[in-house]
Amino acid sequence: GEGDVAKGEKVFRKCKACHAVGDDAKNRVGPMLNGIVGRQIAEVEEFSYSDALKDMGAEGKVWDAAELAAFLEKPRDYAKGTKMSFAGLRKEDDRADVIAYLATFSE
Ligand code: HEM
Repeated sequence: GEGDVAKGEKVFRKCKACHAVGDDAKNRVGPMLNGIVGRQIAEVEEFSYSDALKDMGAEGKVWDAAELAAFLEKPRDYAKGTKMSFAGLRKEDDRADVIAYLATFSE
């Protein structure tokens, strides 16, 4: 369903150790996430992705809301071999909210 942007900003605190968004966002442990909603998987040129994500990107897969929700629920199940060391967001609302927040950097 529709996510809540303000709640999603709070959920994103869990991501901030590794990801940046907004003006001057840089790659950190993880790639910068500006434009992620609708972006092809593993598209940031200067970032060194796992083969798991590179292969998905090479197949032309795109991060739409459904793919993001599946990845964020259990990253290591969705993308076997991913180097995103994050257990996942167990709550469906948290996933929808953080995706709504990320979409504000994807316009
Ligand atoms: C990759 C989102 C938490 C490290 C990604 C990607 C997304 C994402 C969408 C794919 C990017 C792309 O294809 O360009 C998130 C969100 C998080 C989160 C929304 C919080 C809910 C974290 C944390 C870490 C991390 C806490 C570090 C401990 C990484 C790394 C990758 C990645 C290393 C690249 C994975 C690979 O190449 O297999 N993240 N992430 N992320 N993230 Fe996260």
